[in-house]
Amino acid sequence: MKFKDKTILVTGGAGGIGKGIVTALAKQGARVAFFDINEDKGKATEEEINEITECMFVKVNLMDKDDLIAGFNKVIDNYSTIHGLVNCAQASKNVSFMDTTEAEFELSFGTGFWPTFHLMKLSYPHLKENQGTIVNFASGAGLEGMPTQTSYAAAKEAIRGISRVAATEWGQDNININIICPIAESEGVRAWRERMPEAYDKMVNEIPLKRLGDCEQDIGRVVAFYLSEEAKFITGQTIMVDGGSVKLR
Ligand SMILES: NC(=O)c1ccc[n+]([C@@H]2O[C@H](COP(=O)([O-])OP(=O)(O)OC[C@H]3O[C@@H](n4cnc5c(N)ncnc54)[C@H](O)[C@@H]3O)[C@@H](O)[C@H]2O)c1
Repeated sequence: MKFKDKTILVTGGAGGIGKGIVTALAKQGARVAFFDINEDKGKATEEEINEITECMFVKVNLMDKDDLIAGFNKVIDNYSTIHGLVNCAQASKNVSFMDTTEAEFELSFGTGFWPTFHLMKLSYPHLKENQGTIVNFASGAGLEGMPTQTSYAAAKEAIRGISRVAATEWGQDNININIICPIAESEGVRAWRERMPEAYDKMVNEIPLKRLGDCEQDIGRVVAFYLSEEAKFITGQTIMVDGGSVKLR
């Protein structure tokens, strides 16, 4: 029960990797609050997690800053503080560079970058008080320049950029911040496989471990480790949890 009496806020927790994280944290004793735009899946996940631990789902559209602030205030009203923040939610569209418009940037930055930035700022006083931790999500697609991912790659690399700056500035407050780049069999990836089966097969074939990760076992548990006391001396790092696809130098 590594996270006994600790409250962790996770975005995009209704499904995919976010749900894997919520589940892994719940199994290790955390109180979990999570945001998602998908109400049906959010309620179903909340019910499932409530069997394990105290859990709170708040329907939030992360593209709407007022909604995000109201959601954050609900979590603080209910649990009084948070000890950890995981910015996992993201939406994007696959479009060639030449066909990319500001609309795709609005979606990628609106669901990924801006909520990450705003939630980091809103969480700061609580994390400072609790010497807490942040885990943000980026992607090998940004690091490697995967085709059709212009706006997504930009949003993900922007998330890595602000994570490293905050890791430097907030180190004196004993807040550590790391970035996970996963590959896992989420709903989002399943939908992508249907749209682009050849790209999916190529990706799996190029993974040294020849499989996608499991959202809870392979990603959620690693996120739990980076939120834990054991990882408190690690900050500002990008961690590839991708079966060996990208090897950082
Ligand atoms: N799955 C992978 O292989 C992979 C690879 C690289 C990076 N990532 C990153 O990992 C994270 C999780 O990915 P995933 O595959 O589980 O994604 P997913 O698409 O399966 O799930 C994303 C979740 O975010 C929620 N969401 C979307 N828009 C929202 C909004 N406006 N407001 C609130 N919630 C919203 C969705 O409802 C969903 O529950 C993302 O940051 C993604 O970019 C995933």
